[in-house]
Amino acid sequence: MIRRALLAASHSGGARRVVETAPFARDVARRFIAGETAADAARVTERLTGEGLLVTLDVLGEDVHDKERAETNVGTYRELLERLHAEGLGSRAEVSLKLSAVGRALDEELALDNARRVCEAAATAGTTVTLDMEEPEAVDATFRTLHELRRDHPTVGAVVQAYLRRAEEYCADLAYEGSRVRLCKGAYAAPEAIAFVEKDEIDKSFVRCMKVLMAGKGYPMLATHDPRLIEIAEALTLLNDRDAGTFEYQMLYGVRPQEQRRLAAEGAQVRVYVAYGRDWYAYFMRRLAEKPANLRMVMRSLAPA
Ligand code: FDA
Repeated sequence: MIRRALLAASHSGGARRVVETAPFARDVARRFIAGETAADAARVTERLTGEGLLVTLDVLGEDVHDKERAETNVGTYRELLERLHAEGLGSRAEVSLKLSAVGRALDEELALDNARRVCEAAATAGTTVTLDMEEPEAVDATFRTLHELRRDHPTVGAVVQAYLRRAEEYCADLAYEGSRVRLCKGAYAAPEAIAFVEKDEIDKSFVRCMKVLMAGKGYPMLATHDPRLIEIAEALTLLNDRDAGTFEYQMLYGVRPQEQRRLAAEGAQVRVYVAYGRDWYAYFMRRLAEKPANLRMVMRSLAPA
């Protein structure tokens, strides 16, 4: 119920104005974002990679409805990738891209062209791109774009959301040699007709998907903070005789940082999803929706001292 309300609020202009101008909300949001500029992102990336972690960087600014803003986002990604290259971070940091940030709502072809330009900049920087998966209505278009991009850039990563009833089928289609696939639970509002809604159903789907990906020939990227799912992933590693270099765990910046370091210290590859930029509202609301305790933290910060 709270989750649904927060996800609905993530699209509301009124709620955005209240949260963005609320004292301390920005400070609470800072727990989950690296800062507002590419320099902030590069600093955090340098620190995390220095600690043995990998990084994927997300430029905040989704749900764009005009060409100019889509173009600005492409430019920001390209500048970021040039910076990663110049600072020698390309081998340990990739970028995550939302098609809604580069014009999907305007035109699928425009978003494809823009995403292609980001992929080209990533290739020049010695790294790659993962296409984030957004609302259920965007899934088919995102997979179409992914397959187009993979013709020239086969390392572009896909995302499968385990809450979708078709998730296992998507994983089976994507578990081929060289295919990088991030598996996550799913962070957007999705109707019961196409998605599991109960936590245990979503978790079971995640396990079924993990089994397919870990037994397959691709490169699974297991994006979860859930301790039970991480234990099952560890068991599947042994069962499928997978080396640490053939898959990775992924977690969000600001969530379970000790666990990120524990897994890395045990020899696993762990990639941290680092978001940065001024347009933090929708990303922050999804983080609140994932854990009600985060909302209590915001409410406390809003209360008079
Ligand atoms: P779950 O929500 O059950 O959380 C398990 C435990 O982790 C919680 O009990 C808590 O301890 C901790 N935790 C989880 N979220 C937290 C938070 N926000 N704050 C504090 N603690 C938290 N989704 C999507 O739809 N499309 C996408 O492209 C991506 N991409 C993506 C990349 C990466 C690297 C990650 C880690 C996640 C995503 N997601 C995503 C988000 C994903 O779908 C999901 O909403 C969150 O990862 C939370 O799910 P968990 O698997 O962690 O389980």
